[in-house]
Amino acid sequence: MALVSQFLVIAFLSWMLHCMAQGNVHYYDFVLKETNFTRLCRTKCMLTVNESFPGPVIRVHKGDTVFVNVQNHGGYGVTIHWHGVKQPRNPWSDGPEYITQCPIQPGTNFTYEVIFSKEEGTVWWHAHSDWTRSSVHGAIVVLPAEGTTYPFPMPDEEEILVIGNWFIGDVNKMVTDAIIAGGAPPRVNATVINGQPGDFYDCSNETTYHFLVDYGKTYLLRIVNAAMNDEFFFAIAEHIVTVVGIDGNYLKPITTPYVMISPGQTMDILLTANQSLGRYYMAARQLLTDGTSVGTNSTAILEYRGNYTRIGHPIYPSSLPSYVDSEASDRFFIRLRSLASQDHPVDVPQTISTHLYITVSINSIICPNSSCEGIGGTKLGASLNNISFQNPTTDVLLAYYRNISGIYTPDFPDQPPVYFDFTADDLVEDNTTIPMIGTKAKVLNYNETVEIVFQGTNVLGGSENHPMHLHGYSFYVVGSGHGNFNNETHPKSFNLVDPPELTTVGVPKNGWLAIRFRATNPGVWLWHCHLDRHLTWGMNTVLIVKNGGTLDTSIRDPPTSMPRCEVPIVTQLEEYDDSIENIDGLDKI
Ligand code: C2O
Ligand code: CU
Repeated sequence: MALVSQFLVIAFLSWMLHCMAQGNVHYYDFVLKETNFTRLCRTKCMLTVNESFPGPVIRVHKGDTVFVNVQNHGGYGVTIHWHGVKQPRNPWSDGPEYITQCPIQPGTNFTYEVIFSKEEGTVWWHAHSDWTRSSVHGAIVVLPAEGTTYPFPMPDEEEILVIGNWFIGDVNKMVTDAIIAGGAPPRVNATVINGQPGDFYDCSNETTYHFLVDYGKTYLLRIVNAAMNDEFFFAIAEHIVTVVGIDGNYLKPITTPYVMISPGQTMDILLTANQSLGRYYMAARQLLTDGTSVGTNSTAILEYRGNYTRIGHPIYPSSLPSYVDSEASDRFFIRLRSLASQDHPVDVPQTISTHLYITVSINSIICPNSSCEGIGGTKLGASLNNISFQNPTTDVLLAYYRNISGIYTPDFPDQPPVYFDFTADDLVEDNTTIPMIGTKAKVLNYNETVEIVFQGTNVLGGSENHPMHLHGYSFYVVGSGHGNFNNETHPKSFNLVDPPELTTVGVPKNGWLAIRFRATNPGVWLWHCHLDRHLTWGMNTVLIVKNGGTLDTSIRDPPTSMPRCEVPIVTQLEEYDDSIENIDGLDKI
């Protein structure tokens, strides 16, 4: 009897430990709905979550789990992605449409199970269907696990700043029209900070976002770059800030008068309100690397509480680099270093089992009868290793999990098909401008150590920065530089000690960038350029990481119901796969 009760106590204790390790569970309701908003003197109707722009904030502690029930009351199918959340073994809730699921159709709902593991700091969520994310996005705050604290002095308060875009027209319609015609997708009409364009735009003065501070306090600013296609410099007039985190990972503190944030990135910044009582502009200014000359610029106001006269304009940040100062961007980027401490260690692979060298290019795609709006009747496209990705109609995850052939091919190449001077000024137009079109995935074994070198190219004179984002993982950025990558000399200067750990990183214009990671998250994971313009054109591919052979290293079972794909997948299942063990489970998918 004593033995039995001892056993029960031990069982109970280990169950408790297990539960503690799993963290808390939270529930959110996201209602997708078309709502009227007025900006730049005009009103339009757009899809938002819970009628707010930006959308609601999710707050958790490290290691928690969140169930988000997404009800689609809008007019078209949508999915939601949890950007920067690794979702261990759980690609089913990752979100990119036609990669891990089909869209949640109007009038239906789907519950995501968002599993937080190692990330700590700020990450975010956004729609992952066409350009819907322009109005469907919000921040996710991941606080330190209960009983632990920040690796820096506790801030007094915190503030979230979401940088986004405003389009006067219907974004998805403009994008669809552009895709059909083959021309360039829409450009934004304004940049917004927490939904507001700021003092320098028409009809916007009254609603400029104000951040009220008390003299002497320190604030943790959580910045999200939710803009569709723009990288930003961000600065606060007269204030020096300290960057302490990026993409849900801590950094060695960087004291700086400005930051550079790529689309998709999130940044944690400490700000001490230590200047004279007054009003100061906080400004986001676009960095232009694609040769265009008109950039956007948005402002919010940092306002000290207290008695003083508030007349005239606030002070504008003189530290903000110019629109074309990519050197200022490089200078900021090379300062990023992981904390690499006992509490926040790094795990940088020192030896590599899979090397990938991937060119990142803008291309032209041939249209029947030269009927498109691009050069010589072609349409604009984009590629990785000269493959322009085409979305399938059934998601890749389902095809992989259920062994359905004909949806994707596992032959994404490890290197470009031809080598040439990728970054030359005067690339002649030859077959390198025309990509292959396909749905190709790169398949990795569990626990492989991977190095990817991205090589920016000047094909079509289209070189610019490309913020590459990998789902399901974070990675270490071990090196970067201008020009072509040299696999003899450049690896010698890699930082394998404390490289920054990110989930989205800009491949420099006409340059290269090297990342490393260990493939310990089984699943189907999209990686793509986070400029939506380029994602639309096919600058993406899929990484499939196989199971590791044990339950803990294998993809979890699918949820009881996934949104149905429009095409009758059951027919495809019958056609292609007679080895399905679990045939009566099919109606659940
Ligand atoms: Cu911000 Cu594919 O994601
Ligand atoms: Cu790009």
